[in-house]
Amino acid sequence: MPFTIAIDGPAASGKGTIARALARQFGFAHLDTGLLYRAVGAKRGDPVAAARSLAPEDLARDDLRSAEAGQAASRVAAIPEVRAALVEFQRRFARSEPGAVLDGRDIGTVICPGAELKLYVTASDEIRARRRALELGADEARILAELRERDARDAARDVAPMRPAADALLFDTSEMSIEEAVARAIACAREAGA
Ligand code: DC
Repeated sequence: MPFTIAIDGPAASGKGTIARALARQFGFAHLDTGLLYRAVGAKRGDPVAAARSLAPEDLARDDLRSAEAGQAASRVAAIPEVRAALVEFQRRFARSEPGAVLDGRDIGTVICPGAELKLYVTASDEIRARRRALELGADEARILAELRERDARDAARDVAPMRPAADALLFDTSEMSIEEAVARAIACAREAGA
C-alpha cells in the first residue's frame, strides 16, 4: 500500500518547501496541486473546458508563479466543475509507489481523506508576505494584500474550502527556519510510519 502525505495551508505558508523536502527524504512522488489550478487559470477560454483538457505542457509554462497567476487560480478554483475535473488525476497520483506527497488546500479534506499523514501548515500573514516578496522580488505590502484576498476567497468558497482536516497536525512555521520546519515534518512522517 502506498504511503500518502497530505499537506494543506494558505499561500506562502511553507507547504511547498516542506512537501518537496519530504518527497526527497522518503523517495516519494510530489504533486504541487496549486500548479493545476494556476495552469487552468492561465488558459484562455472556458475554465471548465481548460480543466478537462489540461495537459503536461500546460504545467510547464513559466508565467505560472506570478501573483496574477495565483489570483486567477484562486478564482477558477471556486468553480465546482473545475475542481471535479481535477480530482481523478490527483487521486491517481496519490497512489504512486512507494508513496506520494500532495500539497494544496483540500488534500486532507477531499482529495485524500485517508492519507497516512496530514499536515496543515500556517504562518502569520506578515511573515508569509515577507517570504513571498523576497521570493518574487515584489513589494511586501502589495503581496500582503494579495495573499489576504486570495486566502479569504479560498476559505470562503462553497466547494472544498481551505481548512484543516479534523485529523491534521497543525504546523505553524512563523517562528521556524526552513531547516527546522523540514526536520520537524520529517519527524512527524517517521512517526506516522513513512
Ligand atoms: O498553492 P498555490 O498558491 O499555488 O495555489 C494557487 C491557488 O489555487 C490557490 O489560491 C487556491 C487554488 N488551489 C485550490 O483551490 N486547491 C488546491 N488543492 C490547490 C490550490
